[in-house]
Amino acid sequence: MKNLTKENVTDKVLGTFPADTNPREREILTSLIKHLHLFVRDVSLTTGEWLTAMDGLYRAGEISNPVRNEFILISDLLGVSSLVDLINDNAPIATETSPLGPFFVKDAPLLEPGGDMIEENSGTQGVVRGHVLTPEGKPIPGALLEIWQTAENGLYENVDPDQPKSNLRRRMKTGPEGNYAFTTIQPVSYQVPDDGPGWELLGMMGRNPWRPAHLHFKISAEGFRPLVTELFVEDDPYIDEDVVFGVRNSLAVSFATNSSQQDADQFNLKAPFWQVEFDFKLQSA
Ligand code: BEZ
Ligand code: FE
Repeated sequence: MKNLTKENVTDKVLGTFPADTNPREREILTSLIKHLHLFVRDVSLTTGEWLTAMDGLYRAGEISNPVRNEFILISDLLGVSSLVDLINDNAPIATETSPLGPFFVKDAPLLEPGGDMIEENSGTQGVVRGHVLTPEGKPIPGALLEIWQTAENGLYENVDPDQPKSNLRRRMKTGPEGNYAFTTIQPVSYQVPDDGPGWELLGMMGRNPWRPAHLHFKISAEGFRPLVTELFVEDDPYIDEDVVFGVRNSLAVSFATNSSQQDADQFNLKAPFWQVEFDFKLQSA
């Protein structure tokens, strides 16, 4: 292409789309090109800085694998995942969403409602229970909950060779009343992975690397929009400083202490134990 200048390069690139480009793809790519060019002009990006960025993206690819996605982490750290979530959110009709994060793994073992996820894990024991409901409050029996959390050391099993496979990851189908319940250990606050370009970005920005303690849920049911969300320990010291901007007011819940041994007996726990009650609401597809 002759006569290319820094003034006309953006229009030249935008002018290359053929007339039959998919309209949505054209809309997205046109805006992406405009914003990327604007960004390069805005900061007068040097060749060295561009190379640093390309190297970071290359290393993000190198460190990623089917159960650890560094690009999702970078999107989370920059608030992009949360912005996408907030734009597409079901609230106030349904439960608020929160990013999936890079550590979701499909096909975890199935657990019956009321089952135990603690197994050999150390930590403070408790129970999470509630229902999966329509926005009108009708139960959704047979909804599939996928649940995952870190062990007490703040690591997910798929990045910790010392944990058994699928530790603290379960799938559970709701009972006839849309009910679910499981015993587990109290989640802990933890730092995001420190071995990739995501961590280097945090260092450049001088940001804290902590996520407040949380449990992850992905909930699906026939005829409803899948819900990806988290429940946070409301009095966690990092509740207002989540490094990936995942906290929503309605998702910060009380892990309340229950001292009744009679209640604990229902779940084969010893009093005192902690207890969370939360009903999830799914929006129609
Ligand atoms: C997580 O909660 O699993 C997570 C989310 C974003 C970045 C790192 C971890
Ligand atoms: Fe997490």
